[in-house]
Amino acid sequence: MRILFLTHAFNSLTQRLFVELTARGHQLSVEFDINDAVTEEAVALFRPHLILAPYLRRAIPRTIWQAHVCLILHPGIKGDRGPSALDWAILNGATEWGVTLLRAEAEMDAGPVWASASFSMRPAMKSSLYRNEVTEAALRAVFEALDRLPDYQAGRWQPQAQSLQPMHPTLRQSQRAIDWSRDSVERVLAKIRSADGFPGVRDQLFDQPCHLFNARSYPATGVPGALLGRAAEGVVRATPDGAVWIGHVKRVDAIKLPVALAFAEAAALPELAPSVEEITYREITYREVGEVGYVGFDFYNGAMGTAACERLLAAYQAATRRPTKVIVLQGGTDFFSNGLDLNRIEAAASAPDESWRNINAMDDLCRAIIETPDQLTVSALRGNAGAGGAFLALAADIVWARRGVVLNPHYKNMGNLYGSEYWSYLLPRRVGAAAAKDIMRRRLPLGAAEAAAIGFVDASFGDAPSEFEGELAQRAASLANSVDFAEQLAAKRRRRQDDEAVKPLAAYRAEELRQMQRNFFGFDPSYHVARHHFVAKTPHSWTPRHLAIHRELGWQAPE
Ligand code: COA
Repeated sequence: MRILFLTHAFNSLTQRLFVELTARGHQLSVEFDINDAVTEEAVALFRPHLILAPYLRRAIPRTIWQAHVCLILHPGIKGDRGPSALDWAILNGATEWGVTLLRAEAEMDAGPVWASASFSMRPAMKSSLYRNEVTEAALRAVFEALDRLPDYQAGRWQPQAQSLQPMHPTLRQSQRAIDWSRDSVERVLAKIRSADGFPGVRDQLFDQPCHLFNARSYPATGVPGALLGRAAEGVVRATPDGAVWIGHVKRVDAIKLPVALAFAEAAALPELAPSVEEITYREITYREVGEVGYVGFDFYNGAMGTAACERLLAAYQAATRRPTKVIVLQGGTDFFSNGLDLNRIEAAASAPDESWRNINAMDDLCRAIIETPDQLTVSALRGNAGAGGAFLALAADIVWARRGVVLNPHYKNMGNLYGSEYWSYLLPRRVGAAAAKDIMRRRLPLGAAEAAAIGFVDASFGDAPSEFEGELAQRAASLANSVDFAEQLAAKRRRRQDDEAVKPLAAYRAEELRQMQRNFFGFDPSYHVARHHFVAKTPHSWTPRHLAIHRELGWQAPE
């Protein structure tokens, strides 16, 4: 079936649907919702059997929904109508939520229901719920709707008309505003989580207006509203019943950054010593289970700046000195890694210099993993990985991914960036030279199942994160206990030596960095322009050609 995605952006949910529907044999094309004329043109060119709108911010033109089945994904339960659906659910403390697939009609969110799916809410930020629970539910609902399509077309099934509820309005900043003298930790967290990653909660720090993101509870007490100190790059603010750590802010007309970077004033705050062993703000963690060492690195949005890479390298090197047999690199819960921290680079005094420092720090980390002599290493992708973050995963001997993970193992979308992280060594040795070239050129997301089929990862398993972690623990333990562990380690060392003799790692790095140097310091500013648009979240003005296949030269929809 030809399915046209009409969407505001090719975001994680859209990408997941894209890879799953492609895997089911459907032909997909994407058009960004730019204006009605562009939408009409896309429909005329692609002649879809179905139009799916996974993430839409405007109404579909009447000419389209009257002539085609257009299904809109609403991130709310049946009967819920209006914008900020997930925001309201978090703020109102809903324990169960869901998604609904509605047929587009004149009135917003009022069309008949084609399918719906529900999930239990989790105390997490909105974007995390969206990337996980909402995405999984969306997948179930879309599959259900597709299964119903033949019956609908044959007149054997009709979608269910909704009993219309009043539409809830856009959640306003005044409704999220924090009253630091009265709101409990839980209430503050609900308000910030309901707005994280976007738009954040409007507040003030150091008497300056800003929007708050990335909040956790913190074990401290003080005068409600007072800033108690600094912990890592965040600040700790007291509530009547405890304190909240705030990691990121967006100042007026600025980009989202760690608080300590956005506000020089934070440096004057007292540094708070961690008062408990497993402090909640800690991004890098290490734990051992038997002879397996687990290195976690949960960087906000998976972005790994220079200092983050250096800290992780130190933690990794410490892990290699432990008497373990296996080291598992776990990344974060939402993202394994998204490579260089583009926001920090954008905010740096010299973006080219900071890009250079960042990629070198990333490469140092990758090299340490590749050259690990005494342990077998595993990358365990609980969450998605993109660009350099996807190749960081390949630095390990073994790569396992949760079934729902989506990978974007390519760099070109960021202003034709060449990329480093030893990808030119790591990728072809896993998938072969032709497939490596294809992955880089196509710039499309790769689902975990397909990644396993082509050898990009070694295995994909587990649907829910807990399922993945359970099986991961078993697999890692049996790797450490395998009878031929010594032979496996010896084979790995031999392979590294052989590869080094053919072409040293340093040569791969030098070649990649020569290209990166051009990207960062050369006359073509594409990378800097693309990065700026990415961090500033400039709306798209056209759909990239590799997604809009109906706009490819010579495209003709079959009869
Ligand atoms: N640096 C800084 N922030 C990043 C980032 C990076 N490398 N990658 C993602 N983010 C941020 C996004 O800006 C967004 O921020 P928000 O919380 O303010 O909304 C958030 O992470 C989620 O990203 P988003 O693009 O919405 O997620 P997605 O799942 O839809 O897409 C990617 C995932 C990886 C395809 C996309 O984020 C991407 O292309 N990232 C850039 C990768 C890159 O080029 N890295 C540099 C070269 S190594």
